[in-house]
Amino acid sequence: MHKSRWKNRVLGVMMANVLFFVLVDLSIKISQGWYQEGKILIPSERFWKKLKVSEAFWNRHQQRLDHVHNPLMAAAIAAGNDTNVNTIKSIPDILDWLNDTIPEHTCEPDYSVAARVKDYHLLPQRFKDFLLYMRCRTYPMVRNEPDLCREPPFLLLAVKSLVPHFDRRQAIRETWGRAGVVGGRKVVTVFLLGNATATDHFPDLSGMLQREAEMNRDILQWDFRDTFFNLTAKEVLFLEWLSGNCAGARYVFKGDDDVFVNTGHILDYLGGLRRSRSRDLFIGDVITGAAPHRDKKLKYYIPESVFQGSYPPYAGGGGYLYSGEVGLRLHNVSQHVSLYPIDDVYTGMCLQRLGLTPEKHKGFRTFNIDEKYRDNACAYDSLMLVHSRTPQEVIQIWSWIQDPGLNCHAVTKFAG
Ligand SMILES: *[C@@H]1O[C@H](CO)[C@@H](O)[C@H](O)[C@H]1NC(C)=O
Ligand SMILES: *[C@@H]1O[C@H](CO)[C@@H](O)[C@H](O)[C@H]1NC(C)=O
Ligand SMILES: *[C@@H]1O[C@H](CO)[C@@H](O)[C@H](O)[C@H]1NC(C)=O
Ligand SMILES: *[C@@H]1O[C@H](CO)[C@@H](O)[C@H](O)[C@H]1NC(C)=O
Ligand SMILES: *[C@@H]1O[C@H](CO)[C@@H](O)[C@H](O)[C@H]1NC(C)=O
Repeated sequence: MHKSRWKNRVLGVMMANVLFFVLVDLSIKISQGWYQEGKILIPSERFWKKLKVSEAFWNRHQQRLDHVHNPLMAAAIAAGNDTNVNTIKSIPDILDWLNDTIPEHTCEPDYSVAARVKDYHLLPQRFKDFLLYMRCRTYPMVRNEPDLCREPPFLLLAVKSLVPHFDRRQAIRETWGRAGVVGGRKVVTVFLLGNATATDHFPDLSGMLQREAEMNRDILQWDFRDTFFNLTAKEVLFLEWLSGNCAGARYVFKGDDDVFVNTGHILDYLGGLRRSRSRDLFIGDVITGAAPHRDKKLKYYIPESVFQGSYPPYAGGGGYLYSGEVGLRLHNVSQHVSLYPIDDVYTGMCLQRLGLTPEKHKGFRTFNIDEKYRDNACAYDSLMLVHSRTPQEVIQIWSWIQDPGLNCHAVTKFAG
């Protein structure tokens, strides 16, 4: 990983220290009691000034998670009984923030968001749906293949798909996602599905899916609405599956079902990694210095009432590659990161908390390659991933790069 990891660590330690002093200050105030001889003692301005509760819902939710998971703060909240809470009624923001009694990971709709998100009633429906279920991280698993990793794979390919995408999945199985032993390395492929429901006007394809799952034994499915904003739920459910069912996987590729992946090239790359580097591996098409889009017409629009701030470096969700070890650490840390509506940004947020920086690799082309090379077999020979490709294109490209007569000398020319 990057040198900036050390910088992040140093910064993290500094921030932890600041937080520590703030919390010590608070715990002293609480242990002294805010009441003394019947007189209300308003906590010193210093503490409340430092604790600036964010205006944006996600940030506020995350601040609270950070505080309750800090042992000092947990003690403080436990000590803050109703009487104490009443003494700070003059600070409604903080009162509301402390009085959050809804269980952290509940799957009941959280109707309190309607009052807590400033312009909730004006938000597009997908935000209301997201906010109501933002705390829910466990949906029932309706299809599992618990034995797929009995013999731990060298590479696990996890592909986000939607129930109706039968042809995409089949093209992947016939090409880059062919499971088995590839070049002496064990590869396992799984498809990650939610539920395509009548609510979202999907036809009932459950019989066809059942047949597909029996034939291929590579479908993992959970019972939640498979929408764009629920991809983060899919991410945390996959991480949970990984740590429970496939913790021995050396490497994990996670990506979309409309990409072409050069599995052979990925295996060569991974086979050549030094152990010291492979432990913290996380590579992809990394985007740095991004911030939420504020244009309501965009797919990635995020209102200011939901999130404020900029995004950490993150790898585009079309596909990225990481070590199994990083996957397990992501699973752990994700428990303490509030779900964010955009799944790849969310993974970036989790990495940041781990002190890891995703690394840009020029073989990941989530924004496609120059048009004039798209029909050139050699362009794909040296790449790891290209987005987007139809099932037919995937099959075509695969046959090109499998051709033993393919002779690509000027590979670097296509990489730039
Ligand atoms: C709540 O806090 C007040 C002031 O610190 C204290 O006098 C009171 O006994 C506490 N009540 C309980 C139930 O702990
Ligand atoms: C805390 O929240 C509950 C439920 O939302 C509400 O009934 C109660 O009055 C609130 N307490 C304070 C002190 O605001
Ligand atoms: C998924 O959606 C279908 C169609 O709306 C529905 O009948 C079914 O109960 C849902 N749940 C599961 C687990 O398939
Ligand atoms: C996510 O799935 C849950 C469970 O099916 C559903 O209630 C919720 O509306 C979905 N959220 C979004 C943003 O689609
Ligand atoms: C994840 O958390 C568990 C429980 O706290 C811990 O035992 C385990 O070592 C952690 N795993 C990683 C990879 O950090």
